[in-house]
Amino acid sequence: MNERPDKRLVAASFSKAAGSYDSVAQLQRDVGQQLLQYLPLSLQPQRWLDVGCGTGFFSRALTDRYPRSEGIAVDIAEGMLQHARQASAAQAFVAGDAERLPLRDASCDLLFSSLALQWCADFQAVLDEAHRVLRPGGTLAFSSLCVGTLQELRDSWLAVDGFVHVNRFRSAEDYQALCAGSSLQIRRLQVRAHRLYYADLRSLTHGLKALGAHNLNDGRPAGLTGRARLRALADAYERQRQAEGLPCTYQVIYGVLQKEPGP
Ligand SMILES: C[S@@+](CC[C@H](N)C(=O)[O-])C[C@H]1O[C@@H](n2cnc3c(N)ncnc32)[C@H](O)[C@@H]1O
Repeated sequence: MNERPDKRLVAASFSKAAGSYDSVAQLQRDVGQQLLQYLPLSLQPQRWLDVGCGTGFFSRALTDRYPRSEGIAVDIAEGMLQHARQASAAQAFVAGDAERLPLRDASCDLLFSSLALQWCADFQAVLDEAHRVLRPGGTLAFSSLCVGTLQELRDSWLAVDGFVHVNRFRSAEDYQALCAGSSLQIRRLQVRAHRLYYADLRSLTHGLKALGAHNLNDGRPAGLTGRARLRALADAYERQRQAEGLPCTYQVIYGVLQKEPGP
């Protein structure tokens, strides 16, 4: 599935959410920590990138992990970069797009990216760019979202009006095929489900909005969501309630790929 929201909408939505992001980003924290654990222990980058750095939480973690390296935090949303800059999360801060990185060829040893690449329509371009900017032997480590993410919300909306109210995600098979067909070697590629539970629908949708991750796809209905439709949505979602609360599933793909070592 190649349709993704307009990049200007994505950047504006995340810039707007920069102030609230950290308070609701528990899943993002868990996923990023997991990705950090998947980094090869032998890796000692001279220069790393954190692409889609957001508020810079994992740029800071990479700075702590590699104190002698130069770290560059990259994001498409200026508002997010401002937060990362204020937190001194890296050594340099660059506004840029994962599909067209404003960096020189063979200029870094690690490209880290947690929960950002699901916003890229052209994942092939992301892999090509990673291959281009990595030095021989360099590592791409990413986490992203697959089909099945927010499935409960999608199903509930479907029961209400059949509209696309949830961002579309690439399938795990597409990620697999694109990685296998790239010039990088796959070291790890696996999907893990993460499930959150909410007390009610309101807290779930507020959480998505505070993250800047609410639906930006074309085909979303314009204008206000009517009260009756929200009530119908809440009723539909209630039918999926479990003992822990309303379930909200994220299907997360973790990838660690390596550029072939030099001669
Ligand atoms: C869910 S946040 C994740 C932030 C951070 N990596 C974390 O784990 O907390 C996604 C970030 O990706 C950025 N982003 C979206 N599309 C991007 C693109 N094409 N290139 C670079 N950054 C992008 C957004 O602006 C946002 O800051």
